[in-house]
Amino acid sequence: MAENQNRSQHGMWSSGTLFVLAAVGSAVGLGNIWKFPYITGDNGGGAFLLVYLICICLIGFPVMMAEIMLGREGRMSPINSLLKLARESNRSSKWSWIGWAGTVGGIIILSFYAVVAGWITYYIFRLFSGEFVNTDAEVVSSAFDLFLKDPWQVFLWFTIFMAVTVFVVARGVNKGLELAIRICMPLIFVLLIVLLVYGVAQGGFWEGFKFMFQVDFSKLKLNGLLVAMGHAFFTLSIGMGAIMAYGAYMPQGESLKSAVWIIVVVDTVVALVAGLAIFSIVFADGLSPAQGPGLLFVTVPLAFGDLPLGSIFGGLFFLFVAFAAFTSAISLTEPALAYFVEKYNVSRVVVAITIGFITWVLGIGSVFSFNLLSGFTPVFGWTIFDFFDKITQWFFLPLGGLAIAILVGYFLPKDRVWSALEINSSWAQIIWKALICVIAPVSIAVVFVLTIVQHFVS
Ligand code: PHE
Repeated sequence: MAENQNRSQHGMWSSGTLFVLAAVGSAVGLGNIWKFPYITGDNGGGAFLLVYLICICLIGFPVMMAEIMLGREGRMSPINSLLKLARESNRSSKWSWIGWAGTVGGIIILSFYAVVAGWITYYIFRLFSGEFVNTDAEVVSSAFDLFLKDPWQVFLWFTIFMAVTVFVVARGVNKGLELAIRICMPLIFVLLIVLLVYGVAQGGFWEGFKFMFQVDFSKLKLNGLLVAMGHAFFTLSIGMGAIMAYGAYMPQGESLKSAVWIIVVVDTVVALVAGLAIFSIVFADGLSPAQGPGLLFVTVPLAFGDLPLGSIFGGLFFLFVAFAAFTSAISLTEPALAYFVEKYNVSRVVVAITIGFITWVLGIGSVFSFNLLSGFTPVFGWTIFDFFDKITQWFFLPLGGLAIAILVGYFLPKDRVWSALEINSSWAQIIWKALICVIAPVSIAVVFVLTIVQHFVS
């Protein structure tokens, strides 16, 4: 095990910038480009967005700081970092359960995340083939439905995505990955702007803008609060140890606060631009904003299908999104991977293949949720895909975040936390205490209890 306080046995990011890049790679993914637009559409727009942004600032920001700090102080997998910090602070070793929940949660998330990433991968080829040149909304949307109804197609693309993820994870976090994040992130952004300009040119921008930013609380149901909060955790990759595991490889002496600022701002801006682009197209083409998980797969092919060289740019768009999904998928495996390497002292390759296999088996239920098993909804009418999606985002991530806030806010020595986070002035300490001891945990608990009571009791 790593004896050296300042290094992790799994390696280190070569600089603070590379840590930020990797964390941005983890945060920016399907959550921003696929999920954020469709849940905003499903939950009525403006009011939902406002609650989401409040959650990002008041909960996401402090919890992310706390979580990265735990990793950097522990320098091991989340489970062992928590164990080590709890022992050093004379606290119960049960705090490592947060790490266990996150490790299991990460595998569950990856099992359905890779299914959607498989759809994205298929769409790279579909767009390049020119299939959607000059078609209309109905054709594009039935093409998507037909694809989902074909179990073996979905299964194939899911398997391909999982195999590539396992391959890279097994080889370790290398320079190639870092370089690719550096290139792909800006390019995704450029193509999102292309989409947005298309939406503006088609005349849908203003309506899209109003849909996203006009706050009308009558459109927000109580359940929307939990969705917004759960998504704030999901999109920032917090509450399950992914960012804690990455924090363990962050060099000492780099500012954690400024890293968190950059990650949160980039993640939020990507989601907002994706949302604006997609809703502009939705309103320009008279589509419904509330069409669920298919939203991206209808709007994007439709827009690029109309543009000159659209098949090439559209194919590239899905290629970059697949890449963003891939850099997030990798981080989902890291807590489990690091733990098993520490525990059994076996190679990353063996552990990566084992975890990959377990995730792949678990994911088969989600693959078939759209076809063979679409009628199999034993719990609350949810398919297996919905079940995994909801239990992770409604339970695992918020409760993990709550436990992290309580641990850092109340159970670790204050001096250690303040020096790790470079919180020196007394006003900064007051703000930090207010956020991590009161505002974040109380709001998580309130939203959680309110919606759970409404959802499950009534
Ligand atoms: N943040 C990623 C996204 O937005 C998903 C993710 C969740 C990654 C939790 C790691 C941990 O797509």
